[in-house]
Amino acid sequence: APISPFIAGLPKAELHMHLEGSLEPETIMRLAARNGVRIPYANAEELRAAYSFTDLQSFLDLFYLGLTVLQTGEDFYEMTKSYLDRAAQDRVRHAEVFISPQGHLRRGIAMGTVIDNILRAFDDARREHGMTGGLIAGIQRQFDEEEALSMLRELRPWRDRIIGLGTGGPERGNRPAKFRRAYAYAKHDLGWRTTIHAGEEGGSDFVCEAIDELHVDRIDHGVRSEADPNLMRRLAETGMPLTVCPCSNIMLRVFPDMAAHNIRRLHEAGLCLTVNSDDPSYFGAYVNENFASIQQALGFSDADLWGFARNSFLSAFLNEEDRARHL
Ligand code: ADE
Ligand code: ZN
Repeated sequence: APISPFIAGLPKAELHMHLEGSLEPETIMRLAARNGVRIPYANAEELRAAYSFTDLQSFLDLFYLGLTVLQTGEDFYEMTKSYLDRAAQDRVRHAEVFISPQGHLRRGIAMGTVIDNILRAFDDARREHGMTGGLIAGIQRQFDEEEALSMLRELRPWRDRIIGLGTGGPERGNRPAKFRRAYAYAKHDLGWRTTIHAGEEGGSDFVCEAIDELHVDRIDHGVRSEADPNLMRRLAETGMPLTVCPCSNIMLRVFPDMAAHNIRRLHEAGLCLTVNSDDPSYFGAYVNENFASIQQALGFSDADLWGFARNSFLSAFLNEEDRARHL
């Protein structure tokens, strides 16, 4: 969908994107060559041609392959700075991004190599673009809770520079309560805010469980909440934010096409919704394309889109100083 001047100029916060999901195929091939990592595709075009997914797992397989090219601190810096520069062009004024530390620690990369270089890119983006941002540590939910807890303990030295805990990885078979102790540790021991992917491929019961047992501040995706009218009422009444990723949902076949996406019904039910890119390179859509696609397919007014952008700042894990700057 073409990006209207209104969407292009709309100040927005992006609250749901995975940094490793911003690696473009050209960058993956360039870093693979630079670092001597084998990627079983001849070139960037071949790799991009493989971005045709049938479900969440088929995407995750390529996502976990792509991130193996990240080896040095400079790689993490470049990935982060490229995304933030691109987001600044989309008039993203605040970005809260996920990183999957386990995907790097398991390959023998030191935590400091990952975190210090990402934070350095945030500092540069603040200086160059006046953007604010925050890093959310994502548990890979296919692995056990002990590993998640050990990652969190390792992140303790950075606890004041990381804003929250989230998740990535396969939702089905890995219910929210699996990480009860990790979420309690993040909230009470590290002082972080929390969010979780729920109701993307898992059912509405996972959204209920995340709220009731993990006491999260936001829900990532959450679109399958629609199956439970009681939950829908609760979400509306409490103003629980949902970080919706429309183009991701089409690419991963949560809905057959954008005209069938339920974001309009979620909006009409009074939910607090934000619009996000999830993995912009893999889904071929940065945040403005997500806004443009839902407007084109579902007829949202500019005022509706303004409301989603406003919700993104209201739902952000902003500190007092940055909140005053944006609101
Ligand atoms: N990792 C990256 N993007 C994801 C998504 N949308 N769901 C689960 N894990 C992910
Ligand atoms: Zn996601």
